[in-house]
Amino acid sequence: MTTPWNQRCAQRMQWMKGSAIRELLKLTESPDIISFGGGMPAPEVFPVEAFRVAADRVLAKQGTKALQYSTTEGYRPLREWIVAQMARYGIESAPENVLITSGSQQALDLLGMLMINPGDLLLTERPTYLGALQAWRAYQAEFITVPVDNEGLQVDLLEEALCAGPKFMYILPNFQNPGGVTLSLERRRQLIEIADHYGVPIIEDDPYGELRYEGEHLPPLVVIDAERLKKRARPAGNGQPYYDEHAPTNGNGRAYMRGNVIYLSTFSKTLAPGLRLAWIVAPVEVIQRCTIAKQGMDLHTATLNQMIAYEILAGDGGNAFLPGHVRLIRSVYRERRDAMLAAMERFFPNEVAWTHPAGGLFLWVTLPDYLDATALLKEALEHKVAYVPGTAFHPDGGGHNTMRLNFSFCEPTRIETGIRRLGEVFGRAIERHEAEARRAEPVLEPAF
Ligand SMILES: Cc1ncc(COP(=O)(O)O)c(C=O)c1O
Repeated sequence: MTTPWNQRCAQRMQWMKGSAIRELLKLTESPDIISFGGGMPAPEVFPVEAFRVAADRVLAKQGTKALQYSTTEGYRPLREWIVAQMARYGIESAPENVLITSGSQQALDLLGMLMINPGDLLLTERPTYLGALQAWRAYQAEFITVPVDNEGLQVDLLEEALCAGPKFMYILPNFQNPGGVTLSLERRRQLIEIADHYGVPIIEDDPYGELRYEGEHLPPLVVIDAERLKKRARPAGNGQPYYDEHAPTNGNGRAYMRGNVIYLSTFSKTLAPGLRLAWIVAPVEVIQRCTIAKQGMDLHTATLNQMIAYEILAGDGGNAFLPGHVRLIRSVYRERRDAMLAAMERFFPNEVAWTHPAGGLFLWVTLPDYLDATALLKEALEHKVAYVPGTAFHPDGGGHNTMRLNFSFCEPTRIETGIRRLGEVFGRAIERHEAEARRAEPVLEPAF
């Protein structure tokens, strides 16, 4: 008898719906479609030669080690490099606070496995990252959302949502995917105070923090949270940093980080997403549990990839590669963002609004309320241009008239053509609506 596979699937499969993004990417594989749909870095900036040289060196110097199984926590020199790198942004941690993951997507899954029971409520921004929703729906999470505006999460609406008792908050402070907006410094501080007051931890997802094209760098939530703890801890009085006196130490007198924030970042946007290399920074209790969960998932992240990344980042002469490479990425993406914003100004009807991201890969478009971005996608595809409709990023409904556009993937001339096509699609839809509204108006009899 042939196995009826549908009947063999676990119940959780009901909650695991296919991603609109992935389905859309399939549709837009054809080269004549200008796709603003995916979240892909520009292939032109991939450091292929640096990878080739680093791979050669790793295989020549430590080939057998690179091809062997390794520890679940990750390659120790890479974890140490991450600790040093993050210290530049004020994130104080030790290698014991760092777990290397196979992409941040795996970090989201691990944290879901660690924290979510069926029916648990999670608080996310509205709109929020689709991949997190996908990962956490598998654990039967439910969602409560707080909207973002041009300054990020609307913190003044947070307390009411927290009263519903979410297990944690999922926050994207920098150039949010999908909205492109950034959480202001004042709101970051308020958020940390509120999280402390209500005892609700935060997962801070920061894949785009390095990709700022204008304005000042803002401290990550994990840093503001550490400052809160330091203020509260007893002053050491000897010029030493203030650590929580209850924090465990790593035997070298160095206190591990504590606090309410778990921080995630990735090499996907600064080196290459095909590496599948990212990291979690968290209190040791969290890292230890994530390590156990990861053992059951994939034993460890690819040794070869970790060693090649380390060779690129720190090998042969130090830390020279990444800063220059990030400068290159910033200049390419800034030009593409500006090309998209200029084209929107030129080709989009007045009724359409959009965000002005200071960094990252995405911006967010809002159509008049009477238009449906999902219905319009079919027409856009007929005109060889694609985007992701906004409903996918709204876990508790809404967003029918919104969409996410990616500006990192296409060159400026293609961006201009694609935005012109989209502007025409929107313009026609608005005209159709206005014509219908005119037809529906009652014909007034002339009064004599
Ligand atoms: C907000 C956010 N988190 C996580 C990820 C996943 O990144 P990774 O490639 O490291 O799995 C992405 C990818 O686009 C993202 O935008």
